[in-house]
Amino acid sequence: MGKIEAQYPSVNVSIAELNPEIPKRKYYTMADQSKYIWFNGEIIPWEDAKIHVMSHVLHYGSGVFEGIKCYTTDEGPAIFRLGDHVHRLIQSGEKYGIQIPYDQDVLTQACVDIVNANHFENCYIRPIAFYGYDTLGVHPKGCPVEVAIASFFWGAYLGDDGVENGVNITVSPWKKISLDAFPPSAKASGQYLNSMLAVQDARERGYDEALLLNQDGNIAEGSGQNIFIVKNGKVFTNGESASILMGVTRKSVIQLCRDLGFEIQIGDLTQEMFMNADEAFFTGTASEITPIASVDDSPFEDGKPGTITLQIKEKYLNIIHGKDNGYKHWLTLVRHKNAIDSIVSE
Ligand SMILES: Cc1ncc(COP(=O)(O)O)c(C=O)c1O
Repeated sequence: MGKIEAQYPSVNVSIAELNPEIPKRKYYTMADQSKYIWFNGEIIPWEDAKIHVMSHVLHYGSGVFEGIKCYTTDEGPAIFRLGDHVHRLIQSGEKYGIQIPYDQDVLTQACVDIVNANHFENCYIRPIAFYGYDTLGVHPKGCPVEVAIASFFWGAYLGDDGVENGVNITVSPWKKISLDAFPPSAKASGQYLNSMLAVQDARERGYDEALLLNQDGNIAEGSGQNIFIVKNGKVFTNGESASILMGVTRKSVIQLCRDLGFEIQIGDLTQEMFMNADEAFFTGTASEITPIASVDDSPFEDGKPGTITLQIKEKYLNIIHGKDNGYKHWLTLVRHKNAIDSIVSE
């Protein structure tokens, strides 16, 4: 059976192949692939997971969320660094005073349960906690905190070609939200309007992704990815003071650079350092390790993925697919009877 076009451009799996019960048609929706959603403590049919249009989150973006991935491994589906993602969700909530009414263990188990309920072998998991319906005052007093966890297919975020051959990016005219206006280290719904402006502008001008500068004029991150550069065999990335989300993939890549024996330096990345780098790559749950081929039409390494980038990418892919025994503690086996990993690994 051939590859079938999906409504979501990045859904690059043949849905009908995975679920023969779904009638063959040109466009598939998330509901075609996913039967259930975890909503406020219960697993309910996808189509029943609804909120009121006057919910606080819809008007003010008052939600926090996560993006998590589950991969096929020889031991069945496994979720990558689940404990760390759930921990960040709770922390993001705390940064906004959003008290999530479920603890780390409950949310962790809920992620496992929703993958099992939908019978996925590999998928993306999207937990979100948000202020629901009560008042429209900006102060959310009285609004309930609601929690949903969805799971569905999501392929290469920046496209298969981008992951393979590198993406062409542009420095955005939109600055990254500053540390004194928002907590960029929280993954909060409203903050993504900043990312949306940047990526829309980049796509309109023919680039794959935007690179946002921070208030100091240094490199912050992509619209949904952290950034690394390589110069003279040494790997560099920025830290929290650069107005970035503290990515789980970033943390993993820092660790595996050390394990691979690469020197890694964490500090401000100036535009000059970036432009003069030998290699550059994005990291993110959805983007995994995506090489950057060029910035504003200036190529890195003849526009081909760099050799160190490729070594890091290969190691990362082996880890997420359970092929590297040294990192199995980063995986939560979904079909395992006691599949619960609330460990937040440092
Ligand atoms: C703005 C931003 N930066 C960085 C990342 C990468 O974070 P992670 O590796 O935890 O997915 C993401 C993706 O979640 C993001 O949205």
